[in-house]
Amino acid sequence: MKIVHVASELYPYIKTGGLADAVAALAGVLADHDHEVSVFLPGYRAVVDHKDAAGAERKLRLRIEMGDQFLSGDVRVFSPRKNLKVYLICREEFFDRRAPYGNGERDFEDNSDRFIFFCKGVVETLRLADLQADVVHCHDWQAALLPLLLRESERRHRVTLALKTVFTIHNIAYQGLFPATTFARTNLPDELYHIDGLEYYSQVNYMKGGILFADRVTTVSPRYAREIQTPEFGCGLDGVAQTRADDIVGLLNGVDTAVWNPATDALLPATYSRADLRGKAVCRAELLKRGGFAPGFTGPVFGMICRFAEQKGVDLVLANKDFFLANDCRFVVLGAGDKRMEAEMRALATAAPDKVCLTAKLDEGMSHLIEAGSDFFVMPSLFEPCGLNQMYSQVYGTVPIVSRVGGLADTVADADEFPATGTGLMCEPNAASLRQALQRALGLFADRARYTAVQQRGMARDFSWEVAAAGYEQLYRESL
Ligand code: ADP
Ligand code: GLC
Repeated sequence: MKIVHVASELYPYIKTGGLADAVAALAGVLADHDHEVSVFLPGYRAVVDHKDAAGAERKLRLRIEMGDQFLSGDVRVFSPRKNLKVYLICREEFFDRRAPYGNGERDFEDNSDRFIFFCKGVVETLRLADLQADVVHCHDWQAALLPLLLRESERRHRVTLALKTVFTIHNIAYQGLFPATTFARTNLPDELYHIDGLEYYSQVNYMKGGILFADRVTTVSPRYAREIQTPEFGCGLDGVAQTRADDIVGLLNGVDTAVWNPATDALLPATYSRADLRGKAVCRAELLKRGGFAPGFTGPVFGMICRFAEQKGVDLVLANKDFFLANDCRFVVLGAGDKRMEAEMRALATAAPDKVCLTAKLDEGMSHLIEAGSDFFVMPSLFEPCGLNQMYSQVYGTVPIVSRVGGLADTVADADEFPATGTGLMCEPNAASLRQALQRALGLFADRARYTAVQQRGMARDFSWEVAAAGYEQLYRESL
């Protein structure tokens, strides 16, 4: 099949979260399966400057209609591996910036224009380069206008650009919600600014467009597919999601073993496997050193890696700070984002530098070291569409402590509830329940035989992307 992915992030070129990992892994496996795969990305500075893009071919000049203006841009293409092409939709004014969505304090004010331009750039490229896609697969709000813009362009130009469109919701909490005046910039027919179209409480909602107008809709775990149809998790789009109930399917993400495999991980001081865990002890020692802790500590080491955002349950952890102070344990945190959360976590690390350490930046190497060197991984999300770190943890022999939501509930079983099969510890998404789970972790760690059994079961699990990719292939074929 000719499969076109459209996303705002792609590992290793540009990443703020799991979206980058998921799109890269899926595109990679589909390319391995001999599909002809293209991924469209905005031409962010980090991507244009990446060594893989050095020889990128300048494929097309673009002239994009935005309201009553025309904006120019260009398209560059490179091929990082067989069967895979990366197309960059470039316009310096929009994408030559240090970060993709904002300056750290707030979102860029022209995000509405930036991602209309991106989607229209994709449509124009499909048309002018005559790519004849079987499936155009759009990810999250940044690509959510594409199904609609694509059909509109087909109508205007009397051509077929794609046989089917698929829209994947990686996170319904980020919708691309902009003032009503944005609508004119889409050049879509007026009747689409309507309750059955892009209008949402007198604003324009990009994600709503993806959910309503793609041929098929997916989420990144089965449980999240059901959750988004409820007021508790739908972030206001539950009613919209319900209208597509028959077309929404949840397909779990996987682990990209080319990047996340303790037996081959080049970012670790030592590699290891289920049969031989000696390397894990080396990673643990290195992690204690990097955390600035005294060597030789034998108690439990807790790790945490996440964007600091409400979603990730950072506040539930902060509400339990006395747990980390009162017990003989270590806590290594890697995360940045919300400034208040960062400050509170920083205060905890400053109050107890012998026990808690915070690295407040994006650090790929440190993220691998935490997954490998910790005994437990803390991930008490309030909601979690899929979540990748709880899977990485299991593969790395680090017992995850997760809340019973979304993809976390789909990928972890509680070791007390299921003594023969459990691979982690689960809590409800509140501080008291997290406290109990942390307490249970101490008990589990003290019982070496039981801890090892839980760890071994986690390491034996198969989270390979082959399963997920097969699910997408089947979905593409069915829809075609
Ligand atoms: P989300 O996409 O909601 O942030 P996921 O669990 O799907 O959550 O994916 C998060 C990804 O981002 C993981 O690969 C994780 O290791 C990575 N990550 C998060 N914060 C950092 C950080 N500060 N440094 C390095 N990697 C990070
Ligand atoms: C989103 C979700 C996360 C998911 C990732 C990749 O960022 O928050 O749960 O794992 O997308 O699909």
